[in-house]
Amino acid sequence: MQGIAVLDAGGQYCHLLARRVRELGVQSHVLPIDTTADQLAGISGIIISGGPRSVTEENSPRIHSSILSMGVPVLGICYGHQLLAATMPGGVVTPSYSREYGLAKLNLKKDRQSQLFGGIPEASRVWVSHGDSVERLPDGFQTLGATEDCAVAAMENAGQKMFGVQFHPEVTHTEYGKRILENFVRNVCACDTSWKPSSTETIEAIKTDIRASVSPGQSVLFFVSGGVDSTVAYKLCQDALGPERVHGVYVDTGFMRKNESIDVMTAFDKAGFRNIRLRDASNEFLAAVGTETNPEIKRKRIGMSFLAVENDVLEHLPPGNWLLGQGTIYPDTIESGGTRESALIKTHHNRVPELLRRIEAGEVVEPLAQFYKDEVREIGRALGLPARLIEKQPFPGPGLAVRFLCADEIAAWSQNARLSEVAAGFKLQARVLPVRGVGVQGDERTYAHTALLTGEYDEGRIAELSPTITNSMRDVNRVVFWAGCKGSIDDFRVEPTTTSREGLDVLREADARVRDILADYDTQKKIWQCPVVMLPLKRKGESAIAIRPVESHDGMTAQYSKLPWLVIQQITDAVLQVPGVGACVYDVTNKPPATIEWE
Ligand code: XMP
Repeated sequence: MQGIAVLDAGGQYCHLLARRVRELGVQSHVLPIDTTADQLAGISGIIISGGPRSVTEENSPRIHSSILSMGVPVLGICYGHQLLAATMPGGVVTPSYSREYGLAKLNLKKDRQSQLFGGIPEASRVWVSHGDSVERLPDGFQTLGATEDCAVAAMENAGQKMFGVQFHPEVTHTEYGKRILENFVRNVCACDTSWKPSSTETIEAIKTDIRASVSPGQSVLFFVSGGVDSTVAYKLCQDALGPERVHGVYVDTGFMRKNESIDVMTAFDKAGFRNIRLRDASNEFLAAVGTETNPEIKRKRIGMSFLAVENDVLEHLPPGNWLLGQGTIYPDTIESGGTRESALIKTHHNRVPELLRRIEAGEVVEPLAQFYKDEVREIGRALGLPARLIEKQPFPGPGLAVRFLCADEIAAWSQNARLSEVAAGFKLQARVLPVRGVGVQGDERTYAHTALLTGEYDEGRIAELSPTITNSMRDVNRVVFWAGCKGSIDDFRVEPTTTSREGLDVLREADARVRDILADYDTQKKIWQCPVVMLPLKRKGESAIAIRPVESHDGMTAQYSKLPWLVIQQITDAVLQVPGVGACVYDVTNKPPATIEWE
């Protein structure tokens, strides 16, 4: 294994470290915290990530001591810094009386020259979030810098090339964070900084891995969705193994967008994928979701339906030895709680238990499991795949099913004095939408209510109010603005709703109209994706539709796109013309606290 290993001590943003290292042109791998020296053979440096636990707790994540005698440079960050101190002889970590959160000033010791801080001024801004502190340095370590509340904010053992920083260099709020990581990978670890996800070497390495995991007598079957991930994974396998050993089935789940199936099959044909056939399984999927209203259960049922269709397809394959190919990318694993220390945010359809069993049995090929979406796109471009497949907005495997919110019972609007007071401070009115959606706050999954704002649309005020609401109210993880409706807002209420073909048809039509308008508006392709979501909020049988345009690099964090009011109005007018749509709301929440999809 080459490059830098990032050992995952938990924390949703451990992956940011891996990304930063890649942005510096060095390959990085996120691995379990207790990975051993043997498993890290060939690596140039190790970063131990931050994490939510305390090293003073029993059973908190630990590194394997063998990695400390490999002679490879080590950089501990936050929890990793404390873990390094607690593991090396002589070091002591204690809970501090004062907790440090947010920005702090790092003062470097004048008399110490460290490779890690080369070219960085004596005083700089850093971002911190910790309760425990290093109380006593391990033997052979020196303090490099301190903040007002933390005496050992940075330490090193120059001889052994071991470093620890209490702050987070991976977040942009740390003024010289990128420089510190660059000093580590380039100067301390002497890494080659020419790695690129789409370079010929990287692509060849992926193909070599594919050939190593698929033995000569075996073939690979993909369930392709037309999305960028499965398309690129398919192409890589086809290039690595030859077209006759790679086959695909496109499953129409009934949760596809308008004309999606025809468009996708045509695009496959143009990409030179000759072994892909379409299977209409819409009845099976609709029946499996049935009257279920809970989003996690809906997702699991959809995952199981994929498996049932897959098993059926696999059973009817011509004799031979078949492996399953998947376009899983790295964030799918993290958010499904798939790295050991991370929390479940939502179960991605290719991470349900039965598939995990197959992965463990070595029956699954996932060539992109270590890559992020933007890197997958880069690889796709380098492979010469058509733009209409590569530049497509992401669309989740469970499709419109996770954009069709269901409800068990009637619920009316409710007022919340605190919410109204906060909104009034921004000259807006607010009420609680009796609909719950999924969010991610402090590394954990939340399933909470949505606040609805009404009044005059003011982009600046709303951008400020939205996080103010979600920061101050624990049971609200999403904020939307009421863009327009038929009749009066007061006549809308949540009504019992379950997934139906007719309802999905209404959503399909609304989605198609929103997509048309945004395609004209977003010529620069700034919008990463725009889920169009049907809410069980109704008046005279017509539902409210939510639009959720977001900007993002990798889907792990996102900012809502600030659309001009004219565009919001244009979208509202267009969706209100769709029979079955009664209102339109505009989602103004970042991720975190709300996930991109509502379910
Ligand atoms: P969330 O909603 O978790 O979405 O913020 C992050 C990105 O992942 C996509 N997504 C999925 N993709 N299967 C997929 O293939 C899934 O089950 C799934 N759930 C969410 C989502 O569209 C966004 O791009």
